[in-house]
Amino acid sequence: MSTERPTEEKLQKVLAGIGLASRRVVEGYILDERITVNGEIAHIGQRVNRDKDDLSFDGVPLRVNPELVYYLLHKPKGVISTANDPQGRRTVNDLVPAEPRVYPVGRLDKDTEGLLLITNDGDLTYRLTHPSQGVEKEYLAEVSQKVSRGSLRRLREGIELEDGLTSPARVSQIQDGIIKIVIHEGRNRQVRRMFQAIGHPVKRLIRTRIGNMVDLTLQSGQWRQLNTLDLLHFEIDQVTE
Ligand code: URA
Repeated sequence: MSTERPTEEKLQKVLAGIGLASRRVVEGYILDERITVNGEIAHIGQRVNRDKDDLSFDGVPLRVNPELVYYLLHKPKGVISTANDPQGRRTVNDLVPAEPRVYPVGRLDKDTEGLLLITNDGDLTYRLTHPSQGVEKEYLAEVSQKVSRGSLRRLREGIELEDGLTSPARVSQIQDGIIKIVIHEGRNRQVRRMFQAIGHPVKRLIRTRIGNMVDLTLQSGQWRQLNTLDLLHFEIDQVTE
C-alpha cells in the first residue's frame, strides 16, 4: 500500500491533523467562518491540497505544507549565521539537518549566542525580516560595570548610531551589569553598537526571545523543530501586537 498522502484531503481532517483542535471544534471554526482557503471562506467538507493551498485561521496563515520546516536553534558563540561560508567556518547550517536546505531568518553576529529561527519558508523569512514587521527581539547583555540610570534612559529613548537613530527600546538592568533589552529593529550588531555608544562594551550577548518564542530548555547548539501550532501562536502574537 502506498504511504503517500492523497493530494486532496478534507479540510477538517487537515486542521485536526495539525493539532489545531479536535475535528468537532475545527468544524465549529469552519462554520464560524474563521478558516479561509486561498482567501475565501471555507466550508465543511471542502477538499484542500496542503502543498498548494493557503489556509488561514482568523486571518493568520496556517503553515501546513509538510515540505516546510522550521527549527529554533540556540546558536553557540563562534558560529556564523549564514548558510554558506566561503572561508569554511562553522555555520548554523552545520548544526541542523542538511536536508531540506534551510536558511537562517536574519542574523546573530558570530559572538552572539541564543535563539535563531532557521527555515526553508521564504514567505515567513520575508515577513520576519522586512523592516516594517518589527518583530520583538529580547537580548541579555553583560557588560563589566553597572550602567547608570542616565545611560539606560539613552538606550531606551534612542541612540544616534552611524546608520541613524535607534527606535525606542525596553531596557531594564536586572542586576548590576546585566541588562535586558528588547528591540524591534535588526540592524547589524545593533545591540553591541548601542552599548558601545554609552561606553559599556558588551562582554556577552544572548538572544532570549523572538516574538513570543522562548525556550529555556535548549542548550547551546541544540535545536527543536517548531510545529504548525507554535508558528500559529507566534504569528497571532505579531498580528495582535
Ligand atoms: N545585536 C547585536 O549586536 N548582535 C546580534 O547578533 C544581534 C543584535
